[in-house]
This record gives sequence, structure tokens and C-alpha cells, in this order.
Amino acid sequence: MNISEKITVRDNLKNLHNDGDNMPQHIGIIMDGNGRWAESRKLPRTLGHRAGVDAIRDIITKASNLGLQYLTLYAFSTENWKRPEAEVSALMKLLIEYLKKEVRELHKNNVRIHTIGDITKFPESVREEISRAKELTSGNNGLCVNIALNYGSRDEIVRAVKKISNKILCKEMDLKDIDEDLISIHLDTGGIPQVDLLIRTSGEYRLSNFLLWQCAYAELWFTDVYWPDFNGEHLVKAIHDFQNRQRRFGGV
Ligand code: FPP
Repeated sequence: MNISEKITVRDNLKNLHNDGDNMPQHIGIIMDGNGRWAESRKLPRTLGHRAGVDAIRDIITKASNLGLQYLTLYAFSTENWKRPEAEVSALMKLLIEYLKKEVRELHKNNVRIHTIGDITKFPESVREEISRAKELTSGNNGLCVNIALNYGSRDEIVRAVKKISNKILCKEMDLKDIDEDLISIHLDTGGIPQVDLLIRTSGEYRLSNFLLWQCAYAELWFTDVYWPDFNGEHLVKAIHDFQNRQRRFGGV
């Protein structure tokens, strides 16, 4: 980043603080490129994921300081089980390590930890650590960090359809009660506003089964930067670009 870009980013930061009304409420991030970051340094892929955790720490701090309300991070998808067993278990270990190490600091900063996705498939040790983190931070009202774990949008929609169908079968609700709001509240993100800004790193231009319903009107922002190199200045730039977009939600 050259000096003039740095100054622009600094100015943007000032604008962001002054322009609270136009802040996105909910940002989703597809954190991509850990593997390529590591490979480009002739390092094992797992070190890329480790560097990715450092980036998560920085982004949570920045998002919290900016007063963001919801940050959803795509940490492990329903498709990621296809990776070599060693990489999957390294990711599980990293998650436990991260929660153990960081949860107190997150709690001190009024951050609330939430997850989406079907974590019943995770080892018990991981589930226990997730429950501890959620419980400890459940009363906080600052930034809500929503970690997507064994998450896939299609799987989430299938599970929501089953929940709704079950209620109809049990006569707790009627077919005519089904509308967009009802579906929304049966998704894992029930109660969380739709995504305003979706960021994907590493030069890929796909949604990869991430928050498909919730991103219906999201502004999309892509960067070539690999996730471990993504920092607060990039986040500010993405928010600033968002603030300069015209959102019409299908109107004129
Ligand atoms: C994509 O990189 C990244 C992931 C598979 C998930 C992100 C995981 C982390 C940032 C670390 C663990 C998370 C927590 C919450 C502790 P990739 O491996 O697909 O990269 P590539 O496309 O370059 O191979």
C-alpha cells in the first residue's frame, strides 16, 4: 500500500466513525487463501490456517472498534470434510486452541460468540469448548461474532424445511403461516439481520454455499489478498466502498 492509499484509508476511517447510519449491520466473510498463502512461502498448509487465526483476531478487534453489530466468519464448510484427515483435525485443534486462548479477552471486550451450522458432527471436545464460549459471552451486547462451523447454506435450508414441516405435522402451525419471515427465523441465523456486505478474499468470485438466503441483497466485495494478509485497513476499505454503493433493494 503506497502513502496516498494509506492516507485515503485513514480518512475513510474518520468517515466511518462519523457516518454511523451508513455502517453495515452485518458483514459476512469467506476467509479464503490460507493454503495458497502458506504454499507461496513453502510452508505447510496448516501454518496458513494458523496465520488465518491471527487475521481473525485483528478483524474482530477492528470490527468491534468500528461498532459493527454482526460478523459472520466462514470457518468450516459442510464440504471441508473432503480435505485430508490431517488438515481437518488440524483445523479442529486450531478452533479449540483459539477458543481456549481468546475467549476471555473477547468476553472482556463485550463480544458475543455464536455459531451457525450443524456442530453435532464435531468431536465432543470441540463442542464443549464452543458451548463454554457461547455461555460465557451470552450476556454481552457488543459485536456478535458468528462462526460458521460445518455450515452449508443448502444444509441449513434443508434443516429449516424439516423444522417447519415437523411443526405443521404436529399442528403447531399451518401451511398458510409459511412466509419469508417464518423461513428466516428457522434458519441458523434466525434473529440475526440479513447480510449487508459480503467479503471474499483470495481472488475467488463465488459464494461457495455461504449464507445464500441471507445474502439476497448483500453488496459483494472481493479482494485478491489472501486471508492471512487481510487486515483492518482492508476491512475499512470494504466498508467505505459499501458506503458508496447505492442499494435499491429492487426499487428505483
Ligand atoms: C480457506 O483457506 C480457509 C478455511 C478452510 C477456513 C478458515 C479457517 C481459519 C481462518 C482457521 C481456523 C478458524 C478458526 C475460527 C479458529 P483454504 O485452505 O481454502 O485456502 P486455499 O484456497 O488457498 O487452499
